[in-house]
Amino acid sequence: MSTEAKHLHDWSATQYLKFKDERTQPARDLLSRVPLQAPKRVVDLGCGPGNSTAVLESRYPNAELKGIDSSPDMIQKARSTLPHLEFTVEDLNTYSPSSPVDLFYSNAVFQWLGKERRIEVIKRLMGTQPSGGAFALQVPDNLDEPSHALMRETAQSGPWATTLETVGRETFQSPQDIYDQLKPLCSEVNIFHTSYYHSLENHEAIIEWVKGTGLRPYLDPLQPQEKTGFLGDYLKRLKEAYPSSVDGRVLLRYPRLFVVAIKN
Ligand SMILES: C[S@@+](CC[C@H](N)C(=O)[O-])C[C@H]1O[C@@H](n2cnc3c(N)ncnc32)[C@H](O)[C@@H]1O
Repeated sequence: MSTEAKHLHDWSATQYLKFKDERTQPARDLLSRVPLQAPKRVVDLGCGPGNSTAVLESRYPNAELKGIDSSPDMIQKARSTLPHLEFTVEDLNTYSPSSPVDLFYSNAVFQWLGKERRIEVIKRLMGTQPSGGAFALQVPDNLDEPSHALMRETAQSGPWATTLETVGRETFQSPQDIYDQLKPLCSEVNIFHTSYYHSLENHEAIIEWVKGTGLRPYLDPLQPQEKTGFLGDYLKRLKEAYPSSVDGRVLLRYPRLFVVAIKN
């Protein structure tokens, strides 16, 4: 892929940050379950624009804190927001820390790795941690929600169906699978689940939300006119699936899965 094409398909920090408060709440909830009191080294894996890194900094102001992300746009935004911290462009599939890390923390990232790579990456990184080190991650568990089911339905039923034939995110590993794979390395594997109900301004806001994340792989391959057609069709389906609330807003249910593992 050319640099220009890569850039076109890069994440957009601006689009992502449109729902910063809602996206950052799970980062806080994840961190509240990490039992480490004073980790020396902390790495935010897939730090995005630095919103999750700021949450880490407020709990661990004395830690050596770094963020890594594969998106140059995200890293640029993180550097400009938190210029005193170190941020580098790195791919999690190949990333390896230069010195042992007490806490690996990752909010809303591992669902983007290939299914077969996710546990492998966690195990490889945990293998570099000292005993008592923690690995904490949160991933959306929303593929069966109307917001995502209707994305797939729209993709399958328009003139873009062939172009989008192979697009789609793979389901995440089940809690049982995660537990069974990580427990041999860990003294504790804590898994929990929370459903958030975000009150959004209207149905169009659901599209704005997913445009920053899950809708990207569907829109990226389409021509401008197809994009407009896709979005119109998707919006119609969303309006049928999500009722308007008493105040005219729309409630977006958003289930998320959390894992906090402590190394043996
Ligand atoms: C939904 S954002 C999460 C950002 C932030 N952690 C937060 O809590 O809001 C997902 C991030 O994962 C990054 N990402 C996706 N695949 C990655 C990979 N293979 N290596 C590193 N970062 C990756 C994306 O660039 C994006 O910034």
